Amino acid sequence: MSEEYVQLTIDGTPISVPTGTTLLDAAKDVDVDVPVICYFAHTTANGLCRLCVVEVEGARMLQAACVTTVQEDSVVHTRSPKVERARRTILEMLVSTVDISESPELQELVVDYECYPERFEGGKKRQPAIIDDNPVYLRDYSQCVMCWRCVQVCADDAQFSYALNFSGRGFDTQIATFFDKPLPETTCVFCGNCIGVCPTGALKAKREHLIEQGVAPEKVMEFTRLKGKKKKSHNSAG
Ligand code: SF4
Ligand code: FES
Repeated sequence: MSEEYVQLTIDGTPISVPTGTTLLDAAKDVDVDVPVICYFAHTTANGLCRLCVVEVEGARMLQAACVTTVQEDSVVHTRSPKVERARRTILEMLVSTVDISESPELQELVVDYECYPERFEGGKKRQPAIIDDNPVYLRDYSQCVMCWRCVQVCADDAQFSYALNFSGRGFDTQIATFFDKPLPETTCVFCGNCIGVCPTGALKAKREHLIEQGVAPEKVMEFTRLKGKKKKSHNSAG
């Protein structure tokens, strides 16, 4: 069966793409880079952050490009004043409460969109100290942008471990384990997928962190060795 195609215009360039293509992928085809935070090519797109919004002529609202599919004869603007204002506000709100010091891509966007996060001074996330409860990785949720990627790879998108989810509300919302248990007491298998998909420094391999701190290699190995459970001897009583 031959594939059906949709004709549309993106930033003045006519394009024809297969039905079902997202606006994000269609924009890539005409070399237009739409910024994203929560979208990741290997996890399910949920349209959470809205940074990827674009203007589609005739549509009532801006559309999240990562989850909106192309429509015949659409006229799409990826950097109109409306789009710029929306992205700037999203970035300002995010940066006013999240530490982006280890996120060069977000820092570039803040400059590009001429953000002024100071105008959202006020409520802040109340974050615990860095969580160091296992030999494999550290969690610093003051750098978490709630993109949901770690939760998805821990669940149906990859590992099926379901060790992570979110807890709290408002400024207290954060990724957490069930009942805030230390990771070794959860279903986590330390696959490292969550570290791999985290777009900020919120999840970091402990070895990387210790090396950055100048810890000697032999100590790094000692601090990051997984201690296996002792096998029960068959001869032991009880
Ligand atoms: S910890 Fe990282 S991957 Fe998980 S939600 Fe926060 S920023 Fe996203
Ligand atoms: S990247 Fe599209 S909603 Fe986050």
